[in-house]
Amino acid sequence: MILKNKKILIGVTGGIAAYKTCELIRALVKAESDVRVVMTEASQQFITALTFETLTGNAVHRDPFEQGTKHIELARWADCIVVCPATANTIAKVASGLADNLLTTIILAANVPVVFCPAMNVQMYLNPLFQRNMAALKQLSYRFVESEQGELACGEHGWGRLADTAQIIDSIQSVLYNNPDLHGKRVLVTAGPTVEDIDPVRFISNRSSGKMGFALAEAAMLRGAEVTLISGPTRLKPLSGMNYKTVRSAGEMHDEVFKCWEDVDILMMAAAVSDYKARQIQNQKIKKQDESLVLELDRTADILHEAGQKKGKRMLIGFALETDHETENAIRKMMSKNLDLIVLNNPLEEGAGFDVDTNRVTLIDSSKQIIELTVMSKIEVAHRIIDHIIIHMQNNEFITA
Ligand code: CTP
Repeated sequence: MILKNKKILIGVTGGIAAYKTCELIRALVKAESDVRVVMTEASQQFITALTFETLTGNAVHRDPFEQGTKHIELARWADCIVVCPATANTIAKVASGLADNLLTTIILAANVPVVFCPAMNVQMYLNPLFQRNMAALKQLSYRFVESEQGELACGEHGWGRLADTAQIIDSIQSVLYNNPDLHGKRVLVTAGPTVEDIDPVRFISNRSSGKMGFALAEAAMLRGAEVTLISGPTRLKPLSGMNYKTVRSAGEMHDEVFKCWEDVDILMMAAAVSDYKARQIQNQKIKKQDESLVLELDRTADILHEAGQKKGKRMLIGFALETDHETENAIRKMMSKNLDLIVLNNPLEEGAGFDVDTNRVTLIDSSKQIIELTVMSKIEVAHRIIDHIIIHMQNNEFITA
């Protein structure tokens, strides 16, 4: 929906991952985006312009380019520029303000979001010079869909592999979403697992990746909210511009949530908070014994339940992870915690669960209206949850306590 009729300029630079750009373009064309391609000279060694012309139905722009105003024309035409794959060389040039080919000249002339999708050898990726350039561009609000770890085309293994097409599409959707319907709202999102230490080397935790919570925080920020994200340990990086706090245990998350409670209009509690913690954290590593070991656990504070008691005019959104009697259990949870909306998901279902980029959820609101969503990316799920929140706010339907 977000991509329909959007003008997306794809910059292709000289890396072997250029063949994967075809898949990205096909997905964008399928979503009815208007796609144009700019190729650097080096990229033409890896893939032909004819491939992109066939996929997009538009002429490809490439170097050497005639001096004139083509760069301005293309920079003004685009709603968004995506450099995929983005080599270390092009990233370095943009970071130092160079404009020595058509693509870098367009980027320098543009005032629309630019998304870089780096792909390169692991040592190039880890090189402090590349990392410095990437950090400098991030500071200036350029977006990065960071590479993944894996088998690289050069035969080495590690960071540097181009991110998945689905992830790149998510980022493009995020930067294009510009409906500030949460403007003026202060949104608190919790994400990730919590970790309850048992001794210096062992802990209790769960398989939450944090992706759903981070997607909610990102979507809320793009829709104009002032966002605080409190997260347990994850491998994810928040968007710059949000207030980001990391915690480890349920107790720490509880304290951070209520520290900013007075400044919250909407709480989205996506964290998978541990229900139990060790009665005593041992200072020394627990040694194994011949007989079995009994570990005494205490309940942690139920943050969302407490938030429900102190709700006031705030809107509260909870998550329910259920594998049986899903709707029944979710409704019970929503009522007992005094929530406005509960997002139900079953990790055993296809397309849902931990550490995947998609989710399939059911939204249940306090009037027990049930909306089943299809499998979609977590960022899309996040926008759909927020759409629902907006409708509730407009109808002033949320309950108070
Ligand atoms: N939650 C919380 N504090 C806790 C535990 C959970 O705030 N100590 C929040 C979660 O972030 C989530 C919702 O409560 O939004 C989930 O409710 P919960 O009853 O804990 O669900 P489960 O952990 O799935 O519980 P159960 O094992 O009873 O199904």
